Amino acid sequence: MNQLIIEGGRPLHGEVRISGAKNAALPILAATLLTDQPVVIQNVPHLQDITTTITLLSQMGSSVTMKESMGLEVVNNNIKSCFAPYDMVKTMRASILVLGPLLARYGQAEVSLPGGCAIGPRPVNLHLQGLKKMGADIQVENGYIRAHARKLNGAHLNLEMVTVSGTENLMLAAVLARGTSVIENAAREPEVEDLGRCLIRMGARIDGLGTARLEIAGVDELLGTEHHILPDRIEAGTYLVAAMMTGGEIKVRDIQPGLLDAVLERLREAGAIIDCSENLIHLRMEGRRPLAVDIRTAPYPGFPTDMQAQLTAMNCVAIGSAAITEDVFVHRFMHVQELRRMGAELRMDGSTVISNGVPQLTGAPVMATDLRASACLVLAGLVASGTTVVDRVYHIDRGYETIEEKFTRLGARIRRVSASEEYTPVATD
Ligand code: EPZ
Repeated sequence: MNQLIIEGGRPLHGEVRISGAKNAALPILAATLLTDQPVVIQNVPHLQDITTTITLLSQMGSSVTMKESMGLEVVNNNIKSCFAPYDMVKTMRASILVLGPLLARYGQAEVSLPGGCAIGPRPVNLHLQGLKKMGADIQVENGYIRAHARKLNGAHLNLEMVTVSGTENLMLAAVLARGTSVIENAAREPEVEDLGRCLIRMGARIDGLGTARLEIAGVDELLGTEHHILPDRIEAGTYLVAAMMTGGEIKVRDIQPGLLDAVLERLREAGAIIDCSENLIHLRMEGRRPLAVDIRTAPYPGFPTDMQAQLTAMNCVAIGSAAITEDVFVHRFMHVQELRRMGAELRMDGSTVISNGVPQLTGAPVMATDLRASACLVLAGLVASGTTVVDRVYHIDRGYETIEEKFTRLGARIRRVSASEEYTPVATD
């Protein structure tokens, strides 16, 4: 079990390069199932979730080869199995994204129901309702989704909730369906749009990308292509907040600033001086503490739920009080208890966490519970006095590429210890 040991209290200064977006790479890897021709994907982040997806595809019969500079070539001309087992899906819910393309191309799929996770029950009812409307026969039994469809038919799908992976699964099914599909109330996240751009390069016919109404005219086959994954806006936001909390200065490179409009608006409100150019965000705090800001999470282009924990951590050390309301995932507050152990003054009121900023957190042993909560605890450790030990950092490795190297280059004192040398804090009393 790896831990991260952080000696806090040092302002961060320097530059960080942003990796490709995990939440675009995952659906685009699933999209390779839609063709028997090679698909080359560039700027793939080196993350546990990507490794898991490559393993899943390989078990099905995919041929995945590493190319130079973080590229992958995926060839699916020899798929032998349309099966996504529980032991795979339980480690990565996004495995559900193979359901749509397997049904569309092979007419069958057997995919473990993803369980809930630390941030909520995470049902997939909207995925299944949409596929049924497209003509799939779907049985859910013994914890598995068993789906069959000789040929999917285009349908008019009106999603009762905005769902990112639900939109993606239905797009991945509709592109090879007979006739046209319309998806109303579609997710508008940039990662959904990036998937759509990749599908269009493969020959799909999709109108309305980036809007809440997608129109997809099914085609008979899709072709191979080459696609460059867009930058990870959540990774970028995480490093920006780290610089804010420590009163430092950062240049975030290889990013498209427009992906973070809602986040940058709040960070400016919190007192950051932010200048943007084409692939760069420059943030300065000049030693000042941030001001506490109110947040309400929402689907894109609203404030992203994947940045909620990081802003909660920032509010812990900000000047003043504020309220952060989580409107996307019901339980996405597992980090609150751990932040309190570091001296944060946080109070829960339903789906809102109310903060009263303190000048200093104190280092403590804390436990990561989900990907973004883990990141938030690292941020808190960077600004806390003394030593913070973040346990269960495998959560972090799912979504942040070489996090300790990137933070070390920014001046942080952070190191990873393996199970054999697990750090046991010496009792100070
Ligand atoms: C995606 O999860 C992301 N994961 C999440 O990022 C992100 O937090 C989330 O979208 C919201 O932006 C990937 O893209 C791999 P949803 P997803 O379906 O698609 C409810 C991270 O940290 N819902 O948009 O699973 C659901 O319970 C991860 O990188 C249903 O009720 O999220 C939730 O309350 C965490 N029924 C809301 O919709 C359904 O069938 C939004 O979920 C589907 C969803």
